[in-house]
Amino acid sequence: MRILLYTGKGGVGKTSVSAACALRCAQLGYRTVVLSTDSAHSLGDSFDTRIGSELVELAPNLWGQEIDLLHQMDKYWGRVQDYLNVLFSWRGMDSLVAEETSVLPGMVELASLMHITHLADSGKYDTIIIDAAPTGSTLQLLSFPDIARWYIEKIMPFERRTLQIARPIMSRMSDIPLPDDDLFESVEDLVNVLERTSLLLSDSSVSSMRLVINPEKMVIKEAQRAYAYLNLYGYAVDSVVCNRVFPQELKEAYFSGWIEAQQRNLAFVEEAFHPLPISRIPFFDEEVLGQKMLQRMAATIFGDEPERGGQGDPTRLYFQGEPQKIFARDDHYILSIALPLVAKEEVNLHRSVVDELIVRIGNWKRNIALPIGLARLKIDGAKYEGDRLNILFHKEEDDSGDAIESLQRSPWAQLKARLQGEVV
Ligand SMILES: Nc1ncnc2c1ncn2[C@@H]1O[C@H](COP(=O)(O)OP(=O)(O)O)[C@@H](O)[C@H]1O
Ligand SMILES: [Mg+2]
Repeated sequence: MRILLYTGKGGVGKTSVSAACALRCAQLGYRTVVLSTDSAHSLGDSFDTRIGSELVELAPNLWGQEIDLLHQMDKYWGRVQDYLNVLFSWRGMDSLVAEETSVLPGMVELASLMHITHLADSGKYDTIIIDAAPTGSTLQLLSFPDIARWYIEKIMPFERRTLQIARPIMSRMSDIPLPDDDLFESVEDLVNVLERTSLLLSDSSVSSMRLVINPEKMVIKEAQRAYAYLNLYGYAVDSVVCNRVFPQELKEAYFSGWIEAQQRNLAFVEEAFHPLPISRIPFFDEEVLGQKMLQRMAATIFGDEPERGGQGDPTRLYFQGEPQKIFARDDHYILSIALPLVAKEEVNLHRSVVDELIVRIGNWKRNIALPIGLARLKIDGAKYEGDRLNILFHKEEDDSGDAIESLQRSPWAQLKARLQGEVV
């Protein structure tokens, strides 16, 4: 089974690209399901039909679904939310505010991603294609650890086992609403699904993330940032789709400025995402609506010779390896970048703005967006190790808890252990 997730800024063409990819997969005989987790649903528009919150058949081998976020939330989060409501109100919070507060940031997207696990478990599909929410919220969602920490601190200030012993005393001393066993169980269920979802998405033999961009500066920058975070959290990005490239024929007066800017930006795209393969989709002469246009789009991304396992098979891994990774060693956090085929000359590092690093080696140039954790640290130098360049960021004196390591550690395992009353 393969999971392909397309993400990018709103309006770049994620839904169209996901739909085109899904159609191609189905034509190759893969049982395919395409779902959109973006609350601004438009999957139905792409297929020029109505798609609701239930799975509908769109073509042979192809099913689609626009996830009902509120329903998903309630299903996975309802009981916990009820308890939080009671707890917050007990603390004197106005009930309306309590209701708002009990919805965690990122929870809506999390709930919709959990549906992937449900589809994967059903065993009915060979390929699951996800049209994911715009970059900002997808990132929020991928920072599972932050959300998990919130759970630990706010929802589960009590451990289950401790509570079993202390409940009679506590209920005599205070009227604080205590979570009951049912609630612990439903949080445990939730955490189990979250853990499995995060395992599925971070298994590079199952899941590939794909960035959808347009050749525009702001769009590229946002995608670079997303790319840095995906690398940080260990999600495999295997390709970039650059949509809406103006054809050269347009090079008449009015569009010439646009075309030149796009050419410059396309060069920048190569620099920013090297060595990932980048496919280009032209700005078509009409909107991408209906299967005929989707096929046309698929042909520009995957080629026009559909063959299972061949070049034109969207389920293949377009890139294997770790173009960028981040880890801790001794006094440093190391940003490690792959350098296949680059002559090992003197390395020139330059920071343009705070969170941007430009690496120059001879004629070779690379533009990297830094995750916030790294951006504020001093660079001690860079060295070649094997076919990688490792850039050393000095850990701060008071960096007690290995911030980046703890970000990367599976939070769900920790949380589960805690729920089961084990010491972590
Ligand atoms: N390459 C393209 N050429 C022409 N129109 C396009 C192209 N890609 C997308 N569109 C149109 O742009 C609009 C937005 O695309 P959509 O896929 O919904 O973006 P997103 O899901 O990223 O918000 C849609 O009307 C779609 O038909
Ligand atoms: Mg969309």
